[in-house]
Amino acid sequence: MRKVILLWMCLLGMSLLRAADRPFIRIETKTASLIYRVVADGRLYQCYLGKKLTHEADLVHLPAGTEAYLTHGMKDYFEPAIRVLHNDGNPSLALKYKSHEQKALAPDVNETVITLEDEQYPVTVKLHYTAYVAENVIRTYAEICHAEKKPVTLYNYASAMLHLDRAAYYLTEFSGDWASEAHAQEQPLAFGKKVLDTKLGTRASMFCSPFFVLSLDGPASENAGDVLVGTLGWTGNFRFTFEVDNEQKLRLLAGINPYASEYELKQGEVFRTPDFYFTYSTDGMGQASRNFHDWARNHQLKDGGKTRMTLLNNWEATYFNFDEQKLVTLMDDAVRLGVDMFLLDDGWFANKYPRSSDKQGLGDWQETTSKLPHGIGFLTDEAKKRGIKFGIWIEPEMVNPKSELYERHKDWVIHLPNRDEYYFRNQLVLDLSNPEVQDYVFGVVDGLLTKYPDIAFFKWDCNSPITNIYSVYLKDRQSHLYIDYVRGLYRVLNRIQAKYPDLPMMLCSGGGGRSDYEALRYFTEFWPSDNTDPIERLFIQWGFSQVFPAKALCAHVTTWNSGTSVKFRTDVAMMGKLGFDIKLSDLNEKETEFCQGAVQNYNRLKPAILEGDLYRLVSPYAGNHTSSMYVTKDKSRAVVFAFDIYPRYAEKTQPVRLQGIEADKMYRVREINLMPGVQTSLPADGKVFSGEYLMTVGLPLFSTRKLSSRVVEVVAE
Ligand code: GLA
Repeated sequence: MRKVILLWMCLLGMSLLRAADRPFIRIETKTASLIYRVVADGRLYQCYLGKKLTHEADLVHLPAGTEAYLTHGMKDYFEPAIRVLHNDGNPSLALKYKSHEQKALAPDVNETVITLEDEQYPVTVKLHYTAYVAENVIRTYAEICHAEKKPVTLYNYASAMLHLDRAAYYLTEFSGDWASEAHAQEQPLAFGKKVLDTKLGTRASMFCSPFFVLSLDGPASENAGDVLVGTLGWTGNFRFTFEVDNEQKLRLLAGINPYASEYELKQGEVFRTPDFYFTYSTDGMGQASRNFHDWARNHQLKDGGKTRMTLLNNWEATYFNFDEQKLVTLMDDAVRLGVDMFLLDDGWFANKYPRSSDKQGLGDWQETTSKLPHGIGFLTDEAKKRGIKFGIWIEPEMVNPKSELYERHKDWVIHLPNRDEYYFRNQLVLDLSNPEVQDYVFGVVDGLLTKYPDIAFFKWDCNSPITNIYSVYLKDRQSHLYIDYVRGLYRVLNRIQAKYPDLPMMLCSGGGGRSDYEALRYFTEFWPSDNTDPIERLFIQWGFSQVFPAKALCAHVTTWNSGTSVKFRTDVAMMGKLGFDIKLSDLNEKETEFCQGAVQNYNRLKPAILEGDLYRLVSPYAGNHTSSMYVTKDKSRAVVFAFDIYPRYAEKTQPVRLQGIEADKMYRVREINLMPGVQTSLPADGKVFSGEYLMTVGLPLFSTRKLSSRVVEVVAE
């Protein structure tokens, strides 16, 4: 009997041990849970992802789910998260749970690290999850390393693998082209794979942005339904794979695009994937966007908590054709407009091959003496005299074949030694995998700032994708180039950040090619598109606003589509980080006066537009009108933008119902940004309404006038 009891106790002990060894690992934000569990054979399974589960006792009822970070070569038939080749030629990996740790990194920021190991080969994978509790964003990445004698080849190395098991899946991608970025297109996902990827090398996007909306059970909507919105922090080739299997389960894989990028991982080296960020909203896309905006401002975007400068840029005002006098006149325009800064764009550098067009000069970062005989110092002084800041354009990763740099350092240029060169915008990319080139690129910024400490801002451009891909420096490791390029870029940016921590910088890549959250750790804002036609911008800004807050989205008033009024163009630009790229001599007196007033309004409304909550009220995709509003965090002030694009004759318009204010507060409504001398036609102007009325009945903000716009300020009494 004693033996039986002992055996029973032993078995009980083992099963207790097994249960204790198989904990639930909960990664949680305020509203979402991602839950893992170790199954009997020691593997890690994702058993839940969705709305937060608050009753711990329920967790045992969860179905087992799917293996968390699936490997190639074992029992799965679909896309794996990781595929390796060991140095004995074995192509398989079987990862088992080893341990996990959870700790707080900061108040409301918790990290979970789950360590997985192969029992046959000394390969370790650490899955990292950071839960930003208040903002409902989860960041995830993987670290891969091994102790095999010779390098292990990595073929696939996802940052994240997530599993969903729902009735239907709808994917919204944000694709397009140069000057037509981030157009939202939704499609249902059926069996098989949908892949969003890019192979541009120097940037994440041109044809497709590195973010998506995955709606569960039905198509995505703005204010209801479960959506998972995700984005990758990697300034290079990315890949999102959405695969629906035979059981209607979906796996989502996000990471670097492994295309032409097999990675030889040395013993002891850690391969750290980029970060994948996602939010799970049960209240549709609007809440998902607000989650991302809060998280970006609080945790990710450079100077996320600081305000932004308004500016006047000379690019579209002059293109390459300027001299000191023209620039000083534009500085006077900046002062008249009331903006904070003058930004000198392309065309100020190179002497042997002066930068008089985009065909030459890139790489030679000395002022063109014929254009700027007194150098940049003269310009910073002139700006200082006028009480405005001075910013400058650079494109330090690039070279024109017609440049002294190219003549001196062909070995620094990414090009195929035995083939003709193919150019994108007449230029080639410098090889940032090479530390000497990293020093040179750092030196462009450092050199300018050392010589001209009054430079207060950089616009950092990157116009060409990598063409003719070959690195002299990498020799027989060519398949590392895509990855090492981006890592080299981050090394440079880290050095700049360390030496000049307070330097604001705009990121640009021939429009919106660089719009990812890793780059935005170093940049305060980015240029979403070279297309500044306000109608197109209504769509483009709508797209980028899915994951980026207004303070990161540069929006300039220009002469594109001058068929629209200056008011319409300015009203559109005020929904982002406002700037002008126009000569005041192109405007009449009234238009100038209007712009001056708009800058003042913008400055007053910064707490709503830059720091507040965005509510997208009427989609431009839905018809002939669109409207969005921004509300201060304390809900005391809001600004509503409404646009009539191409209304139909005698169309019956609907009132715009506001969102995000307090139902029981009273608000005074006032139309602002009116052209001088024009009276408002808004019957609600000057009147007081409850938040309830404004959100339930709404305001008649739309008209049937083509290309008209309205800005309304709503202030709590
Ligand atoms: C790119 C940018 C523009 C401008 C030009 C200058 O196209 O997107 O804003 O800076 O380069 O050459």
